[in-house]
Amino acid sequence: MEQTPATQPMIEALGLTKRYEDETLALDNVSFAVRTGQIYAMLGGNGAGKTTTINIFLNFIDPTAGEARIDGIVTHKEPLKAKAKVAYVSENVMLYPNFTAIQNLDYFARLGGKTSYTKNDYHDVLRRVGLEDEAHTKRLRSYSKGMRQKCGIAIAILKDAPAILLDEPTSGLDPKAGFEFLGLLTSLRDEGKAILMSTHDIFRAKEIADMVGIMNAGKLVMQRTQSSLAGENLEELYLQFMAGSVERAA
Ligand SMILES: Nc1ncnc2c1ncn2[C@@H]1O[C@H](COP(=O)(O)OP(=O)(O)O)[C@@H](O)[C@H]1O
Ligand SMILES: [Mg+2]
Repeated sequence: MEQTPATQPMIEALGLTKRYEDETLALDNVSFAVRTGQIYAMLGGNGAGKTTTINIFLNFIDPTAGEARIDGIVTHKEPLKAKAKVAYVSENVMLYPNFTAIQNLDYFARLGGKTSYTKNDYHDVLRRVGLEDEAHTKRLRSYSKGMRQKCGIAIAILKDAPAILLDEPTSGLDPKAGFEFLGLLTSLRDEGKAILMSTHDIFRAKEIADMVGIMNAGKLVMQRTQSSLAGENLEELYLQFMAGSVERAA
């Protein structure tokens, strides 16, 4: 399967398999690809293997077999090179509650080796993600979950990585905050980012994702393009796959 660099996926899982120390088979031969300018939404119940997948891409854990690649770089073989190409927004964004938004941005930008950003750059990106000026100098401890997620995506934008990974970014957000957040992801996709997100939001996944995958018990049981899902009831499909009443998709 030779690929030229031009068509190489930005985010790629190849036969990804993870057996934890206690023998739990969390991932069983999972393969998928996310290209530049695409959003891939990964659906699946609790314990399906979504976080395990994302954690392998971030090299938080090693796969038992198979490879996770970022821009062709195998994450467990060249972790530092791979990490430089990926920005991560977690469900519970780890930000410093005693720092203001500006201070958090500055801290994480520097941690990522970006030392040329100015205060104005920080204000600009916070405005872009929808945080009003008066919030920029407030400590994060006073932020709502939606505001923290916006700050998290601002940090990801500053990293300016070609790949963005998000683990349930909209869980716990109210519908308006969730809507705004996904609008931001769409704009990043349109700027050429490759985005992999896990989510429980079936309806939004169908709306914004170029590709939708459904995980069940460590297996990718369905993968469909957005256009092939037009006119389909994704929720019904999802429930069928969860019930195991549909055979693995081709
Ligand atoms: N550190 C771990 N040790 C053992 N089993 C784990 C560990 N982390 C997750 N698992 C198990 O792996 C499976 C997949 O978990 P996870 O990737 O967190 O799923 P999801 O994010 O889809 O809810 C589950 O059965 C979970 O209990
Ligand atoms: Mg999870």
